[in-house]
Amino acid sequence: TRPPPRVLSIQSHVVSGYVGNKCAVLPLQLLGFDVDPINSVQFSNHTGYPSWNGEVMSGEGLWRLVEGLEANGLVRHTHLLTGYIGSLSILQTVVRVAQKLREHNPDLVYVCDPVMGDDGRLYVRPDIPAAFRDLIVPLASIMTPNQYEAEQLTGLSIRSEEDALAACAQLHQRGPPTVVITSSDLPGWQDHVTILASTTLPQAGGSPQRLRLRVPRVHAYFTGTGDLFTALLLGWLHKRPGELKAALEAAVAGLQVVLRDTVDKCGAAAAAEERTAAVSSARELRLVQNAAGILSPPLGQFVAEP
Ligand code: ATP
Ligand code: PLP
Ligand code: MG
Ligand code: NA
Ligand code: MG
Repeated sequence: TRPPPRVLSIQSHVVSGYVGNKCAVLPLQLLGFDVDPINSVQFSNHTGYPSWNGEVMSGEGLWRLVEGLEANGLVRHTHLLTGYIGSLSILQTVVRVAQKLREHNPDLVYVCDPVMGDDGRLYVRPDIPAAFRDLIVPLASIMTPNQYEAEQLTGLSIRSEEDALAACAQLHQRGPPTVVITSSDLPGWQDHVTILASTTLPQAGGSPQRLRLRVPRVHAYFTGTGDLFTALLLGWLHKRPGELKAALEAAVAGLQVVLRDTVDKCGAAAAAEERTAAVSSARELRLVQNAAGILSPPLGQFVAEP
C-alpha cells in the first residue's frame, strides 16, 4: 500500500482570481491529496491585469518555512509541485527543498512546470532559463513545459512534432522520465492546441510511450490554464500509475470542462482584444463551479493517440 498522497505546492497566490496555488489546491484536494501550499508571491490579482500589488517571497523566507516544517516532523511529502518562480534566489532554494524532501522520501515525485514564457516571449529574468536547465531539470520527475519553454530548456528549435519529441528525448536524458509539452502550435494544426507526452517509464502495456492529444483552440487568452493542467496531471498520474494515456485524458477532460464553461459564461469578454481589468476578471477560470467536472471528467471526447 502507498502512503497517502501529500503535495508541497510552491506557487503564486492571488487574492482575487485563479492562477498558481489558487488553481492547484482545490483540484488536488478534490482528487484526494493533502496539499501544503507555500505562496511564492502574494499578489492582489494576476499579472495579466493592467496593475497588481503584493509581495514576493525571498529564497530565505521559503527555506525558513521548510525548516519550520522539518522541526516538527512535517516534511513527509509524496509530491513536490512547483510553478512560476520569480527569482534566482527562490529557484536555488527550490533545489534545496527538493533535495530535503528526497532525504525524507527517496520516492518523492517532483512535478515541475518550468514557467518562463510563451509564444516566443520570455517573461522571467534572463538568468532563469539556464538555472532551470542546469539545476532543476536533473531533479524533476515530471516536467510540463509549453513549446517555448521546451525550446529554452533544450536549446532546440521546435517546428514540428519530430522536433518536439527530440526535445523530450533530450530532457529524458538529462532528468525527467516523463515530459508533457502542454501546448504547442504546429504548422498545419493552428486551429488546435497540440499536447505531446513522452515517458521512458514502462507503461501498463510494457513499453515506453509517446502520445499526442489535440484540443480545439479557443481564440482568446486564458490565464491559469497551464497551472491547472499541471496540477490535474499530477493528480491523475498518481491515481492511474503507469497509465500516462488515461491520466492525460482525464486531466485534459477536466481542464476543458472548466475552460468551456468559462468561455460560455464570459460573454463578449471572450472576444475582446483589449485586456482591461473587466475583461481579465470575466475570463477568470470557473474552477469552483466545475468541481464535479474535475473530479469525474467526461471521458471519450479527447483521446490521446500514439
Ligand atoms: P505554462 O504553465 O508552462 O505556461 P502552457 O503555456 O502550456 O503552460 P496553456 O497555454 O495555458 O499553458 O495551456 C495549457 C492547457 O490549457 C492546454 O493544453 C489546453 O488544454 C488548455 N488551453 C489553454 N488555452 C487554450 C485555448 N486558447 N484554447 C483551448 N485550450 C486551451
Ligand atoms: N502566477 C501569476 C502571479 C501570474 O500572474 C500568472 C499569469 O499571469 C501565472 C502564475 C501563470 O498562469 P498560467 O497558468 O496561465 O501559465
Ligand atoms: Mg500557453
Ligand atoms: Na506548461
Ligand atoms: Mg502559462
